[in-house]
Amino acid sequence: MPLDPVYLATAVEGALACGRIHRQYFRQNVEIHKKGVIDLVTAADLAAERAFRDLIADRFPDHAVIGEETATTAEQHSARHQWIIDPVDGTTNFAHGLALFCVSIALVVDGHLELGVIYDPMADELFTAERGQGARLNGVRIAVSQTTALVDSVLCTGFPYTIRESRGRQVEVFASFLGEARAVRRLGSAALDLAYVACGRFDGFWEEHLKPWDMAAGALLVAEAGGTVTAVDGGPYDPFVMSISASNGRIHQLMVDVIRAARIEP
Ligand code: IPD
Ligand code: CA
Ligand code: CA
Repeated sequence: MPLDPVYLATAVEGALACGRIHRQYFRQNVEIHKKGVIDLVTAADLAAERAFRDLIADRFPDHAVIGEETATTAEQHSARHQWIIDPVDGTTNFAHGLALFCVSIALVVDGHLELGVIYDPMADELFTAERGQGARLNGVRIAVSQTTALVDSVLCTGFPYTIRESRGRQVEVFASFLGEARAVRRLGSAALDLAYVACGRFDGFWEEHLKPWDMAAGALLVAEAGGTVTAVDGGPYDPFVMSISASNGRIHQLMVDVIRAARIEP
């Protein structure tokens, strides 16, 4: 059954509201706290997540919101409708005044990823996808790239906040791709990285130890733009698994082969 259009409209409304909050706080000496040694949260993350929670509570009081900045209850995890939000993906960039961040919102209904919205407020780029309906950038259909060889590919990755514990393996994979790809980037926003795979700016992206809010919307965007999404090692993808490989499909097996060959224990 097609999804009620009110859901996509609400996700877009929520994403644009979060984007306004981002712009209001960006480069304004915003309050920053440490959640871990290198893991930050700013007043903008908290305000944006709060605004989205209030929107959903108002529109759909029986829906659950699973967000990065608020602990999730078992009840929320069993709700039929689950909104998954990363209020600022790219918080380290945001906190340092680097204009590479976004809000990422997905909706899971009965365990199926139904829609994904990613909004970059600095570039005013709104990426949207609905299952079975394709992916769009500012309303225009987008598609993954046509590249078929790693040597012609620009790839992207990221490093988790636990990087200090798994550096060996992650650097090994990164180093292998440096020897195979045209270039490898690390932008600092997994959701934007995935949106960029969906619209063909990147040919592929991989990362380990991600959370559902980093990946859910972007994974749907890539799939709906004609790409391939799996777990990092090529296994089945699920928003609640911890890793991802996403590509234009044409280079997917080549990427997975590099990752498998390079993965060593930390
Ligand atoms: C982080 C970003 C980063 C990725 C990290 C994520 P945050 O999310 O997506 O690119 O490498 O693994 O945790 O903390 O900026 O929302
Ligand atoms: Ca994130
Ligand atoms: Ca975040």
